Amino acid sequence: MQRFESYLSQNLPQAPSFHPVYEDALGVMLTAGGKRFRPMLLLNIVDAYEPMLYDGALPVALALEMFHTYSLIHDDLPAMDDADLRRGNETLHKRYDEVTAILAGDALNTDAFLKISQAPLREDIKIKLVTLLAQNGGGEGMVLGQAIDCYFENKPLDIEQIKVLHTNKTAKLIAASLQMGAVIVGLDIKVQKALYDFGIDLGLLFQIQDDIIDETQSEEEAGKTTGNDGDKNSFVNLLGLEQTVQEADTLAKDLQRRFETFDEKLQIALQPLITKYLSRHKPEA
Ligand code: IPE
Ligand code: IPE
Ligand code: MG
Ligand code: MG
Ligand code: MG
Repeated sequence: MQRFESYLSQNLPQAPSFHPVYEDALGVMLTAGGKRFRPMLLLNIVDAYEPMLYDGALPVALALEMFHTYSLIHDDLPAMDDADLRRGNETLHKRYDEVTAILAGDALNTDAFLKISQAPLREDIKIKLVTLLAQNGGGEGMVLGQAIDCYFENKPLDIEQIKVLHTNKTAKLIAASLQMGAVIVGLDIKVQKALYDFGIDLGLLFQIQDDIIDETQSEEEAGKTTGNDGDKNSFVNLLGLEQTVQEADTLAKDLQRRFETFDEKLQIALQPLITKYLSRHKPEA
């Protein structure tokens, strides 16, 4: 984590110009904190199998965090969730203005792919990484999830539809983070697939936990605007808090069982992250 943080702080987006705030706006949400869940999933796999590739993987991990941060900046915009607080700071459109927030998100999205293209890794591997990020983060992934999330505000969906929503908006990027780590170290395609499938359920649990956070945590605890899901198709709104917590527990137990069938190296690499963020209902912000 420390290595990733120092890499990030030394590789913040650079775009010098006579614009007074643009360059700062690209970096401010990246440096504001965050759990770094996605980059650490990727890096822990690389570290476990091919530590020599760790440096080559750092730009890819940063790309994941840039992409995720873009999704958060846009998620907070007035047209979407209209939130004032993110990662313990004012959201970008509050700090600057909407145009700056929209464009900072756009830049982080595009520049994430540039980062991967420039990583010191084999060209064929980089093509796979770009493909995975685009497939899972783009029109058939995170963006689709966000579209469903916003379109169906105050239009109740059923549980299966909510799972589709959560899978797209959150789980696919988490699953892709695991698979991208596996691609970098050259794990067998079957293992890649198993990791991806596990990541989908892990990501679903992650979003259920996030729905619980919105209901149970203060803004100070979460570091972001909470109590904000009233119009949303969240698990809590459909099932109620108690049943959502039960659902999360059941899913967590099932995931732990499946996790224990993975290669020991993978278990050692990923257990700390999984324990830290998914075995209780009040993950750190
Ligand atoms: C928040 O993601 C949005 C969701 C997809 C649930 P995180 O909970 O990973 O946010 P940060 O990166 O720690 O700020
Ligand atoms: C957002 O989900 C998922 C993204 C793709 C950004 P939420 O809207 O629930 O995330 P938070 O609660 O604002 O972090
Ligand atoms: Mg949202
Ligand atoms: Mg939101
Ligand atoms: Mg939320």
